[in-house]
Amino acid sequence: MFARHWLLSVFFFLLVQTSFSQTTNRYTIIPRPARLDPRAGQFLISRTTTLLIPPGQADLKAVADTFARQLNRATGVALTVRVSNRMAVPGNIIQFIPARDTALGTEGYRIDITDNLVTVEAARANGFYYAVQTLRQLLPPTALAPTRTLPDSGLTTLAVPACRIEDRPRYVYRGLHLDVSRHFFPVSFIKQYIDLMALHKINTFHWHLTDDQGWRIEIKKYPKLTQIGANRRETLVGHYDEFDPQVFDGKPYGGFYTQDEVREVVRYATSRFVTVVPEIEMPGHALAALSAYPELACAPGPYSAATKWGVFDDVFCPTEKTFSFLQDVLTEVMGLFPGKYIHIGGDECPKVAWKNSAFCQQLMKREGLKDENELQSYFIRRIDKFVTGKGRRIIGWDEILEGGLSPNATVMSWRGTKGGLEAARQKHDVVMTPGGFCYFDHYQGDPAQEPTGFGGSLPLSQVYSYNPTPAELSPADAKHILGVQGNIWTEYIPDVNQLQYMIWPRAAALAEVAWSPLEGKNYDEFSRRVPSLFDRLAVMNVNYARAVYDAVPVSRAVAGGRVAVSIRPGKRMDNVTDIRYTIDGSIPSAESPVLVDSVLLDKTATVRTAAFAGRKPLSQLAKVQKEFIVSKATGRTYTLQYPATSGRPDKNGSLTDGNTAGMGGYEVAGVVSFAGDFGTTVDLGQSQPVQGVRVGFLKYTAKNFCLPKQIEVSVSDDGQTFRPAVTVKTNALENGKRDMVRLPIDFAQTSARYVRIVARSIGTVPAGMRNPGKSAQLGVDEVEVR
Ligand code: ACM
Repeated sequence: MFARHWLLSVFFFLLVQTSFSQTTNRYTIIPRPARLDPRAGQFLISRTTTLLIPPGQADLKAVADTFARQLNRATGVALTVRVSNRMAVPGNIIQFIPARDTALGTEGYRIDITDNLVTVEAARANGFYYAVQTLRQLLPPTALAPTRTLPDSGLTTLAVPACRIEDRPRYVYRGLHLDVSRHFFPVSFIKQYIDLMALHKINTFHWHLTDDQGWRIEIKKYPKLTQIGANRRETLVGHYDEFDPQVFDGKPYGGFYTQDEVREVVRYATSRFVTVVPEIEMPGHALAALSAYPELACAPGPYSAATKWGVFDDVFCPTEKTFSFLQDVLTEVMGLFPGKYIHIGGDECPKVAWKNSAFCQQLMKREGLKDENELQSYFIRRIDKFVTGKGRRIIGWDEILEGGLSPNATVMSWRGTKGGLEAARQKHDVVMTPGGFCYFDHYQGDPAQEPTGFGGSLPLSQVYSYNPTPAELSPADAKHILGVQGNIWTEYIPDVNQLQYMIWPRAAALAEVAWSPLEGKNYDEFSRRVPSLFDRLAVMNVNYARAVYDAVPVSRAVAGGRVAVSIRPGKRMDNVTDIRYTIDGSIPSAESPVLVDSVLLDKTATVRTAAFAGRKPLSQLAKVQKEFIVSKATGRTYTLQYPATSGRPDKNGSLTDGNTAGMGGYEVAGVVSFAGDFGTTVDLGQSQPVQGVRVGFLKYTAKNFCLPKQIEVSVSDDGQTFRPAVTVKTNALENGKRDMVRLPIDFAQTSARYVRIVARSIGTVPAGMRNPGKSAQLGVDEVEVR
């Protein structure tokens, strides 16, 4: 009997394993549940489905009512919610049952789904709520629609695939942050943001409410904070280094949340089991506050809210006046936000104003503080004492470690993980949010193909790969890692569309990092659930990046002076069947040719690519494009007159391989730089008619790349004796927008095998630029001969 049972189990196990791998798409829950046992069959939610709630549990009733309301709004299917212990009701049933064991913790749940019964078990309302989010992701995406998308005669039943799930989170702190200072986002958006967090079982919203560029929360005692501090005169245009000199839009910008709105957001979040952590920045990033109350600075001012990005020297002065002010502000803030944590910033506080302040120097002497770091520590300790005295806890960026960590502080580790490690070893709680894994203002694809971002690279796979608990921590210290958070700084994110693009799908990967067990973590498997995530986001009218589908074209020169364009190697999403392309500038469609291996170009062209699943487009069709250059120089060897400061461009023929440079944010890829002049001699292989050259030069004066002042071309048949073809002054304008400038140089047609091009540097960056007088560099892209 025992043996037969055992054999049966093995058989069943194999069956399930097989069917699971074949029907993975039935279960596309993100974050991946700790345990999911698939089953055949499905539960149908219809007009006769009843949701049974045990009596006397108002919080469970609220969870059930919300689910029923959402489902009804999206599909018209009306669940009956009944408070009863009895099962004797007609039709199929979803029942909520309080868990009798402790295995599920506060947030865990079990779901057992069969053809006519769904049983949900949890210890707390949080767990029931997360069970419902799992059910919502098991339903067809239409079940998530904000409004009814189907006609009355449409769907009358909704299928939930049968399975058994037991789930609970890996970390207690699962956060998403939002900077509303650099750009302001309205309450309606904040609510949708919280909805999406909750759907992915993220339980903490870190609301970055104050910074140099705007104070965004009403404080009754200090009305000027929002009357004055919520407004800036204008805003920087483009990327920080894009224009030289910098350009501003001339448009006043402002916005803030009233206390009523804040209460509304907190209420909304609470009902979705999301805690809001407000951040009031101190002692740095304080310009907006100082614009309203200049007496809180060390120097008299006046100050105004910053109109560009960065770190500014004027910060709160550690006077009694400042402490009273901050305590008053924090008192109002604690009245609005019931959560345990109050974020007090603490990052990027320059010490120059304190160094120059006689008051600060005297204070340091009086308090026995040996340097300004200890003064910052004194500042934070006083705030810690105040906040802790009110029964709350401070959390701050990892700079609060410098000069000594305040006794009750929790540390948010953003400059890598070092600060987090150190704090955990000091037995302080830690939230991990290192830039290399958690900063969603960084690029998720090729910067040249992406909208302007801050800089840095953070593809989806890298977010997913993050393990917030460093292996080098002892098990006891590792307990201090409370969890992980994704940050969205909005310098380059002016609107909701762009914000959603930067957040999704990366926040979903982070949700899985925060919730799902380390065991079973597998990016390939995760990426197979991403298309369903995209379907869900689309139904919810949420923008998302499809950068995982981007096929970035690259070229190499081949025989016959042509270039072969192929797709940059890398992992491809499983559902991609074809990469289609165009070379006539048109947007790829299902009719465009498929790029099998490479496409040969015999003339300069812009290649556009897009990924398809059959005829269904997966990419953003009008996105990926890159120009490739073909000329008489293509694939030809060349020598350099002066060494390059970046690599050996002569070795791989990068000046004549057809690849053009790409630019995005701070990044410039594929340019060869020279400290002084640039000179090259191209060997065309045999004598032939030539009548001009064209060379791409980088104009990026903020990084000291200037255009050349003069270009000299000479030609030769033997490579020894050169005769001048032309010398031209470029009269190039250095100011303006960063750009790749392709300078065409024509001369009278002649016959030659060798073409020599020399570009003379202007020497130093001209006056009026960001760095006048600095040594100018030349940045060279493709070299063409006509
Ligand atoms: C930060 O990114 N300055 C915390």
